This record gives sequence, C-alpha cells and structure tokens, in this order.
Amino acid sequence: MALLEIIKYGNPILRQDAKEIKEINNEIRNLARDMIQTMQAAEGIGLAAPQVAQSIALVVIDLGLIIDGEKPAAFINPVILATEGEFTMEEGCLSVPEVREEVIRPEKIHVIYQTINGETVDTWYDGLLARVLQHEVDHLKGIFFVDHLGTIKKKMIKKDLKRIAHDELARIHQAA
Ligand code: CO
Repeated sequence: MALLEIIKYGNPILRQDAKEIKEINNEIRNLARDMIQTMQAAEGIGLAAPQVAQSIALVVIDLGLIIDGEKPAAFINPVILATEGEFTMEEGCLSVPEVREEVIRPEKIHVIYQTINGETVDTWYDGLLARVLQHEVDHLKGIFFVDHLGTIKKKMIKKDLKRIAHDELARIHQAA
C-alpha cells in the first residue's frame, strides 16, 4: 500500500491546468490505486491527481463513507459539457484542511470521461456524485472550492488560507 503526500493550498502545482491523459497504462492505473488508498486513509470522498502533485486529468471518488455500497472509481479526462439547476452544499478539501464552507453549484452535470479500462462514459449525474465531481474537475483547472465563495466569506477564511499556504511553502522549502 502506497500512501501519497497530499499537497496543500498555496502549492503552485494546485493552480496549474492538468494535462490530458493520452494513454491509460499501468502507471496511470497504479497512480489511481494509490490515490484511492490515500483518499480513504485521509477520510476524503474525492481526490484529484494535482493534489498528489501529478498535474494530469485523473480524479478518484469514493462515496462509500457516506452512501452504503458505493465503490471507489476513477474518472480520466473528465469534462463537464452542460449543467442544470443549482444547490448549496457544505464542502471541504483535503488540500484546504479545516476549512468548510457552503458552496453554490449546479445540481446536475452532463459529463464525459474515460474509465480505468479505457471505456468512454457520456452521462448525466446529480446528487453527491455530481457535487464531488465538480469539485474535483475544478482541481484539474487550478480552482479551489474557496474560489467560489462570496467576498465576505472569502474575507472570513483569509487568515486560514494564509496559514495553510505559509505552512505549505515552508514544507516545500524544507523538502528542496
Ligand atoms: Co478538493
């Protein structure tokens, strides 16, 4: 079992555009497996590859913590083609520890992606899966859930974000 380091807000990798995955090979499958283990160990329900310092379009989601019987899955090159509705839900992020805020997002999404077996899926999702997938697809574009907040909420968490970024930059410096 390989647990990966989850990088935090303030790390420049998390602001990059993730690259499309051209070939789903063993390297990708192993990374997806390690990401699922890392996410589960951290008690998260979603994790994007940039969060483990790999700037590629790979996302893993496991709703099993919240919904009985849900199995972990990988989403490769996910693109949201259309959305419908709107709803508010509290979100957190393994890269933004201890910050939780309500975020408004579309309720339903039309998404296209590839599975770990290379099959293309073109479908609509709603509910928690649509919510988590939108959060993770944002990570592939360098966007954090806190970027969606209004001015007042942003002001309220500014200190927390500063502290997280400060610690992350210190950690990068030490590792170098
Ligand atoms: Co996140």
